[in-house]
Amino acid sequence: MLSLKSLTKTYRTGDKALVSVDIDIPNGQVVALIGPSGAGKSTLIRCINRLVEPTSGQVLLDDVDVTALSSSGLRRERRRMGMIFQEYALVERLTVMENVLSGRLGYVGFWRSFLRKYPQSDIDEAFRLLDRVGLLAMADKRADELSGGQRQRVGICRALIQNPALLLVDEPTASLDPKTSRQIMRLICELCQERGLAAIINIHDVALAQMFVQRVIGLQSGAIRFDGPPDGLSPDVLTEIYGEEDWQATIRKDEDEDTEAAVA
Ligand SMILES: Nc1ncnc2c1ncn2[C@@H]1O[C@H](COP(=O)(O)OP(=O)(O)O)[C@@H](O)[C@H]1O
Ligand SMILES: [Mg+2]
Repeated sequence: MLSLKSLTKTYRTGDKALVSVDIDIPNGQVVALIGPSGAGKSTLIRCINRLVEPTSGQVLLDDVDVTALSSSGLRRERRRMGMIFQEYALVERLTVMENVLSGRLGYVGFWRSFLRKYPQSDIDEAFRLLDRVGLLAMADKRADELSGGQRQRVGICRALIQNPALLLVDEPTASLDPKTSRQIMRLICELCQERGLAAIINIHDVALAQMFVQRVIGLQSGAIRFDGPPDGLSPDVLTEIYGEEDWQATIRKDEDEDTEAAVA
């Protein structure tokens, strides 16, 4: 279980990015975090693994108080939190395999990681993951030879090889075309289900979020405006989160579901 208790972040500039946010996420649950640009989505994800230091409040992961950890304790705890980024954050000149294995850097010792000598069990697991996401044949390709969708699959493998308890995913599809976006969202959600992983997926595309998750949290100006099933995202709720718009056009309809099934 992940618990955020009165999580608050005020940047030095005075920007109140998070204002007393409370969220509980049970193990295995995938949550989409929606909201306009500047709502605080990235800040929230980064406060959980303390890439951004919260100003106040607590982050508890399975009763470990992440906010209270010293740097060595935090390093250990971060292994349990896999991260997936919008821009993939791969090392371009390294191979797909090396990029995936870099997810093990939190585990192997300094010299092993310096020499890039990974245990055979890590290499086997990397092959299994690449096979699972359909990239087995690309293992020796350099990251800069891949398409966006392929890069994000590598990013997913790199996060999963950490064997995390929680996935923190920041706009995974923002650089991808609509069809690839669906494939990547579906893949992330399937993998979470297979592995009983909890996840927070930041996503500004409401329709895409609604398609794949059972719980949506809407953030606006650093505060939660909605927390519930995707069906609860009425035009009024969306207006509160995003401002005035013609939301009927955005809200998922049953025909779209049929199209989705046909694509899959
Ligand atoms: N490093 C930073 N320094 C100062 N202000 C920041 C920083 N990062 C984000 N902010 C501000 O915090 C607010 C939330 O930003 P962010 O978490 O990036 O939102 P989102 O991911 O939803 O677009 C915005 O007002 C943004 O300008
Ligand atoms: Mg962001």
